Amino acid sequence: MKKLLEIIDLHVMVGDKEILKGIDLEVNTGEVHALFGPNGSGKTTLISAIMGFGGYKITKGKIIFSGKEITDLPPYERAKLGIGISFQKPPPVNGVKLKQLVELCARENGRLIERYAKELNLTEHLEREVNVGFSGGEVKRSELLQLLVQSPQMVLLDEPESGVDLENIALIGKAINLLLGRKVEPKNGRPIKQVLKEKRKSAIMITHTGHILDYVEADYGHVLVGGKIVCGGNPREILHTIKEYGYNECYRCFTKEEG
Ligand SMILES: Nc1ncnc2c1ncn2[C@@H]1O[C@H](COP(=O)(O)OP(=O)(O)OP(=O)(O)O)[C@@H](O)[C@H]1O
Ligand SMILES: [Mg+2]
Repeated sequence: MKKLLEIIDLHVMVGDKEILKGIDLEVNTGEVHALFGPNGSGKTTLISAIMGFGGYKITKGKIIFSGKEITDLPPYERAKLGIGISFQKPPPVNGVKLKQLVELCARENGRLIERYAKELNLTEHLEREVNVGFSGGEVKRSELLQLLVQSPQMVLLDEPESGVDLENIALIGKAINLLLGRKVEPKNGRPIKQVLKEKRKSAIMITHTGHILDYVEADYGHVLVGGKIVCGGNPREILHTIKEYGYNECYRCFTKEEG
């Protein structure tokens, strides 16, 4: 499998505080990685640093994408290389209609914009200002619409299901699978993925509740605690452990292994 994203010993400071303390992570083409971790552990910081946003200072380590080091590239260069992000809390953009924004993002034609908007129940929102007065769920669907038309090779999803009702989580899951080039056949209530080879994309998906994993099959899970990845493995087993014993158990297990 082809290595798409490689993060090596990444240290990131926000303000004068070190938030990420040596992250190593590899994502191959077509893989979805779920990222778990308590509030404030550095999940948003990690994907913001991958995207290259200002305010996240990389003090040590490297980020390599498609074989090219991107550690010092500005966000627009990373976007052009094929990295896209959906925000945890995207801001409202006064004066810009959603339609204008997605047309700017689009590599595809107008017909697809209309089609994706319809699938995401956002047709009427196209004429509204981006995220202005959108409900929590509408904001999340608007983020996915922007990604669908942008069609990046590597997608960074920051809590795509937070604030979304159960019915709309199914819709969001469907859109994410479409985005990732995955065809999903539900079997015994679990999604069984079938990756369409020519379209396969990769993702890092942050989730607290794990609800989205009922619709999008993650290949690996990681737990971030205190700026370090303390555990990795089967995402469903990890989620079960967190639900049963809490994040402290992940850290305890990690420090036991380390010690
Ligand atoms: N601009 C900032 N100034 C100061 N501290 C910041 C700033 N941005 C983030 N931090 C701090 O960095 C730490 C990690 O934040 P981050 O947003 O990455 O956490 P998270 O794991 O995404 O949490 P959540 O689950 O609540 O979204 C937090 O303690 C946060 O307060
Ligand atoms: Mg966050």
